Amino acid sequence: MLDLLVINARLHNKKELMQIACKEGKILGVSPQIDAKTLQTQTLQTIDAEGYFVTPPFVDSHLHLDGTLSLGLPHLNQSGTLLEGIKIWGELKPTLTHETIKARAKKLLHWSIAKGNLVIRSHVDTSDPCLMAVDVLLELRHEMKEFIDLQLVAFPQNGVLRSTTGMATLTSSLDKGVDVVGGIPHFERTMADGQTSVRLLCELAEQRGLMVDMHCDESDDPHSRHIEALTFETQRLGLQGRVAGSHLTSMHSMDNYYVSKLLPLMAEAKMNCICNPLVNMSIQGRHDTYPKRRGLMRVPELLDARINVSLGHDDVMDPWYPMGTHDMLEVAHMGAHALHMTGIDQQAALFDAITVNGAKTLNLENYGLEPGCNADMVILQASSKQEAIRLRPARLFVIRRGKIISRMEKAKATVTIGAEDVTVDFCP
Ligand code: FE2
Repeated sequence: MLDLLVINARLHNKKELMQIACKEGKILGVSPQIDAKTLQTQTLQTIDAEGYFVTPPFVDSHLHLDGTLSLGLPHLNQSGTLLEGIKIWGELKPTLTHETIKARAKKLLHWSIAKGNLVIRSHVDTSDPCLMAVDVLLELRHEMKEFIDLQLVAFPQNGVLRSTTGMATLTSSLDKGVDVVGGIPHFERTMADGQTSVRLLCELAEQRGLMVDMHCDESDDPHSRHIEALTFETQRLGLQGRVAGSHLTSMHSMDNYYVSKLLPLMAEAKMNCICNPLVNMSIQGRHDTYPKRRGLMRVPELLDARINVSLGHDDVMDPWYPMGTHDMLEVAHMGAHALHMTGIDQQAALFDAITVNGAKTLNLENYGLEPGCNADMVILQASSKQEAIRLRPARLFVIRRGKIISRMEKAKATVTIGAEDVTVDFCP
């Protein structure tokens, strides 16, 4: 018996509308006409996609679920800087409870599902000696696993060397089941300590067979070059393809000659880069007068160097960022503007950065719309990758393992001009 048959589905790489047959949580076949023998079996549910665009689910490669939806607690970030955000987070942490972290994170996951984000890599602050947020997010990862894949990164917000207990609590969080080793080298006391932290954390990941994802060079300082050390350690320890540099905003201000040496080394190490356009457009360059730097990594150049780049939302209504609905299409939309990536192929590349490239960063298996992949997909009220970014449209159906887990009404407006009603869908 088929769980689900999606008909009239528009896929990015096919001219004809397709049928997608799903069985036991997997995609059984993708074809203009699923063969009669398969269709003879009973189908539990059929969805007519009406020619709309069907995509694998969105992947948020970088989020902070432990602080999400805490905006204004205990007060707002007046300067808009990363450092004031860290200070407010430090004030908020002692007041947090298991219940409040969990309720906010769970609410955010409901938003995520409605927006079609079924895979999230979330950092979790491991500085707290009792690791309360770690316990909450591990619990949530388990409770929500039927609906969403949550990958957790041990994030030492206070630095593993700057804080005397940093390395111990991070290691304890890995013992509890956190998936990925994090870091924050630019926040350590010196450049040398930052470099040492990169070495120690990569060695820890290598010993435990884990991936690495560091907050790296989230700074406007062009001399913040911890990505160089991260690239070197990746190569030295044989971690190619399993390491990610998140933020990398100092790359925006680095000397061009230095970057021309750096990018081939990053390509050789199969470094994954995670850019967070919404948040870094907001918090970088705050110490500048005019002209103000925008502080994003060099995404077009990274892609030209065949380096995998994915995008993250980073924050949603917390001490660092007051906005957001956890819409990855909004992230790509900001990226198109802020990264000068408005070309048609560049827009498609940004769509890939919130889908397939994210899956590569997270080392996901069975992701995609091919036979044998997990039957996870989103039907968008749009006709293409580019239109999806332009409209940030309704996610009509969100499907997880062959079951509908979220529906949204089609968006349209009726404009009344005199006696005439005109339907507007914002499509030319
Ligand atoms: Fe972050």
